[in-house]
Amino acid sequence: MRLDKYIAQNTNLTRSLAKQAISSGQVSVNLECIKNTAFKINPADKVCYFDKLISALDHRYIMLNKPLGYICSTQDEVHPSVLNLLDIDKRDRLHIVGRLDVDTTGLVLITDDGQWSHRITSPKKNCQKSYLVDLTEKVDADIIEIFKKGLLLNNEIKPTLPAQLILQSKQKVLLSIQEGRYHQVKRMFAAVGNHVEALHRISIGTITLDAQLGDGEWRYLTEDEITSMNLK
Ligand code: URA
Repeated sequence: MRLDKYIAQNTNLTRSLAKQAISSGQVSVNLECIKNTAFKINPADKVCYFDKLISALDHRYIMLNKPLGYICSTQDEVHPSVLNLLDIDKRDRLHIVGRLDVDTTGLVLITDDGQWSHRITSPKKNCQKSYLVDLTEKVDADIIEIFKKGLLLNNEIKPTLPAQLILQSKQKVLLSIQEGRYHQVKRMFAAVGNHVEALHRISIGTITLDAQLGDGEWRYLTEDEITSMNLK
């Protein structure tokens, strides 16, 4: 990794302040002053800023219970980002793992570990996501088979991958899908003549939304939750 990136990632300095600190001789690598901001460091190198050892910060992994009205990207002129709900330092280092629509609620994962999030969002991994879905029309039991076989969404040529649907009541189902196409759940129900009234995500892979978390609340993932996703 570049020295300026390492300093910015593991201190309170921004990337440009990290560059200034390096070029003005405040940074050493293995006790040697380094003024080249692009200098490449290895994990075993000892990096000091004003003689203080800078250790690599651990990655952060968060689950959030997304409320209505928030978006899963960083910029929008109308709606606030779910990242605004995190009262923690260096929020801008974090990214949201997959998206929920502004009117969808429930489990959102947030991290600064790009490899971990890639394992969840990569289409090759077929990571299961489960949703509680409230519908405006009565659910016809035939759609269990239709969803299991896969169906064509409007303007697409490839059918959806097999999805599992469990009826909860006349107008409520639990749906598990292994893809993340644009507005997928809403479009699947539109394709069978129904309409989603409310959508709430309850799990992503092996991670289930903590029932203790109220709307807009979050917590760090446990070690087991983090590693359970690595095993897939
Ligand atoms: N499918 C949708 O239609 N919306 C979501 O937010 C998530 C899945």
